[in-house]
Amino acid sequence: MTTDALKIYPIKGGEVGRARLAVLAGVLAPTTEQHLDRAGPLAGLKVVDVGCGGGDVTFALARRVGPKGQVIGIDLDEEKLGWARAEAQAQGLSHVRFETCDVTQAWPVIGADLVYARFILTHLRDPGALLARAMEALKPGAMILVEDIDIAGRFSYPENAAVSAAADLYIALSQKRGGDPLIGRRLDFLLEEAGFRHVETTVVQPFSRQGGAKDVAALTFAAIGDGLKAEGLASAEEIARIAREIDDFNDRPDTVVSMPRIFQPWGRKG
Ligand SMILES: C[S@@+](CC[C@H](N)C(=O)[O-])C[C@H]1O[C@@H](n2cnc3c(N)ncnc32)[C@H](O)[C@@H]1O
Repeated sequence: MTTDALKIYPIKGGEVGRARLAVLAGVLAPTTEQHLDRAGPLAGLKVVDVGCGGGDVTFALARRVGPKGQVIGIDLDEEKLGWARAEAQAQGLSHVRFETCDVTQAWPVIGADLVYARFILTHLRDPGALLARAMEALKPGAMILVEDIDIAGRFSYPENAAVSAAADLYIALSQKRGGDPLIGRRLDFLLEEAGFRHVETTVVQPFSRQGGAKDVAALTFAAIGDGLKAEGLASAEEIARIAREIDDFNDRPDTVVSMPRIFQPWGRKG
C-alpha cells in the first residue's frame, strides 16, 4: 500500500489480501465470465482492468484478447502488482502489463476498446472520478463493464448473529473510510451521470453450503480486523469471538452463506 488513496481501502493487503482475492476469483469466475461475454469477441483488442489487484480477471481478459491484443491492469497496491507481474511472466503473457496508478487520476492508457472494473468503485470516495477517467480512456462507442457490491443484500440460512455482525461491521468500516458498501444499487445512475449510454444492469449472487462464499465471508472478516480495531469499531476480543462463530457456522453442512448481492452494469461511451 503506497499512498493516501489506499489508506481508505478497508481490506488488508499483502499476502492475506492476495489469498482472499484468489478465493474470491474462484467463486466469481462463472458470473464474471458471463459478464465479460457481453463485450463480444475481444481478440486483438486493447482492454483495461481497473483496480486489478492480483490480476485474476486481467488474466481472464488476456486469454480473451489473445497475443495480438493488449491488457493493462492498473492498481495502487505495489505488492499485488508485483505478484501479478510475476504471474504474467510465469504464464508467458507478454501482452499483459501492470501499471501503478491511482484510478481516480489520469490513466496510462488511451484508445481502449473495453474498460472492466470489479469491486473498486465501492472503495472510492469519488467513484465518478474513476468513471470520468474511463470515459477519457475509451474509444467512442466502446464499452465499460462494472461489477460491484451491495452488501446489505447478503443472506445466510439460517440467520446467524456472527455472520450478520461481520457484515454490519464491514458496512460501518467501509462507510467510515469514505466508501459505499451498498454502491451496487446505484451503479447504473453513476454510469449515466458519467455520460455512458445504453446502460443496462443485471444482478448475480453466488452462495455456498461448503467452501466458496463461506470462505470469502470468513476471509473478508479476517482481512478487516486491523481496520476495525484502528477505527475503534470492535475490540480484539469481539473480533476473535465473531471469527470463531463464523467458522463454527461455516463448518455446519446444514447452513448457507451468500456473497453480497453483485450488480453488473454495462454501457457505452456515446
Ligand atoms: C477488492 S480489490 C478487487 C481486485 C480485482 N478487481 C478483483 O476483482 O479481483 C480492490 C482493489 O482496488 C485497489 N484500489 C483501491 N483504491 C484504489 C485507488 N484509488 N487506485 C487504484 N487502486 C485502488 C486495491 O489496491 C485493490 O487491489
